[in-house]
Amino acid sequence: MGKRARNKPAPKAKPGRPERTGLEFKPRDLEDCRIEQAEILANSEIGLQTGRLDWSGAFGHAPVLLTETMEALRVKPDGFYVDCTLGGGGHARAILERLGPEGRLLALDRDPEPLEWAGVWGNGDPRLITARLNFADLAEYLKDRALGQADGIVADLGLNSRQLATAERGFSFALDGPLDMRFDPEEIGGAHRLIHTAPEPTLADIFWRYGQERSAKKLARLVVERREKGPIEGTLELAAIAEKALWRPGPKPKIHPATKMFMALRLFVNGELEALDRFLGTVRGCLKPGGVLAVISFQSFEDKRVKMALRGEAYAEGADDGDEDDDKLSQLSPSGRAGLPGRAGRTGDPQSLGPKSKKDHFHKARENRVLLPEDLKAIEVPPSPWRPLKRKAQKPTAKEIADNPRARSARLRAAEAV
Ligand SMILES: C[S@@+](CC[C@H](N)C(=O)[O-])C[C@H]1O[C@@H](n2cnc3c(N)ncnc32)[C@H](O)[C@@H]1O
Repeated sequence: MGKRARNKPAPKAKPGRPERTGLEFKPRDLEDCRIEQAEILANSEIGLQTGRLDWSGAFGHAPVLLTETMEALRVKPDGFYVDCTLGGGGHARAILERLGPEGRLLALDRDPEPLEWAGVWGNGDPRLITARLNFADLAEYLKDRALGQADGIVADLGLNSRQLATAERGFSFALDGPLDMRFDPEEIGGAHRLIHTAPEPTLADIFWRYGQERSAKKLARLVVERREKGPIEGTLELAAIAEKALWRPGPKPKIHPATKMFMALRLFVNGELEALDRFLGTVRGCLKPGGVLAVISFQSFEDKRVKMALRGEAYAEGADDGDEDDDKLSQLSPSGRAGLPGRAGRTGDPQSLGPKSKKDHFHKARENRVLLPEDLKAIEVPPSPWRPLKRKAQKPTAKEIADNPRARSARLRAAEAV
């Protein structure tokens, strides 16, 4: 628990606004999203006019923290590796370059385009197997196909540059496109359906929980008022509603008013945090002992999930990971924690919560103001199934950020399966 939190009483949530969970976006996340959109659109190799399946020789996505990820993976020439997020294939190609003829790479994406693109650059490489799959289902997939455990698994979270730069995908508030935002275009749902059918309080809750949008209620009200007159036509019209809802006199805001709303919708539409939680809860069973997991995240609330999982701590939303900068987590009242979704523990079974962490027991003891013998026994938790390769997350170098500004918020965490 952070120092400040020990003496501070839990703050009361404002009426009508959900309590903070500590997994919210930080200003850095939002600023990065804005810069990312602007720079990708300006620099995209694929060009905005390019038809969806005209590759023009490139996918437009520069791999992030590539050197560091390859150092962590220590690819064995005859090993079996999984790239959970194929995208433009930057990490996948680097793995293939290190594999010998006996090696194999399973590369996944929810979006069919990266798989098609891999057909172009992979050129029939027999070592490369691609699958359209949510990485949340990796454990099941490996088991069903008897593929065995991997020597290394990499996940580079979020969306790829091509998705953002393709207006028809609806990810960008800077391009006119349909309200879509699905990674998998064949999945039911999409932002249009959500925006037009969700009750106003649900929309407000999504804007707040997934985007930390302070004006979530007002924004939801304006969206509902507008949709009552007829369908909202597309991304630019939705962005204009955010501009209207969030307009304030004074200097221009640092980020586009639609930034938080678009991010919240994308995360919700794709169930991104849920997928990450399920993946982290089951991925240990997908690796051989000594195998390496490497995860690159771009948002602090994702990195926090990865950090806690690789510490081997059973994780529940609102739990304290002991970082000073996460003090707000520990300001949650016990009732604020209760009922929040938990995550699979160390067993690899997503249904079963793993052993309680030390901190759970300390929290309990502190709440009761007594420490009982069973609490002391309970804190003897089994050793972590992970051995982190570095104590802290790895960040991109200044040179990488200068070459690829999208990399600036990237964080790599890697650990060896024990
Ligand atoms: C940041 S990009 C990966 C870029 C890639 N590493 C490269 O260097 O080109 C993330 C990719 O993961 C995919 N994706 C996101 N969530 C996913 C999930 N839960 N399961 C599988 N793929 C996912 C997105 O469609 C996107 O193509």
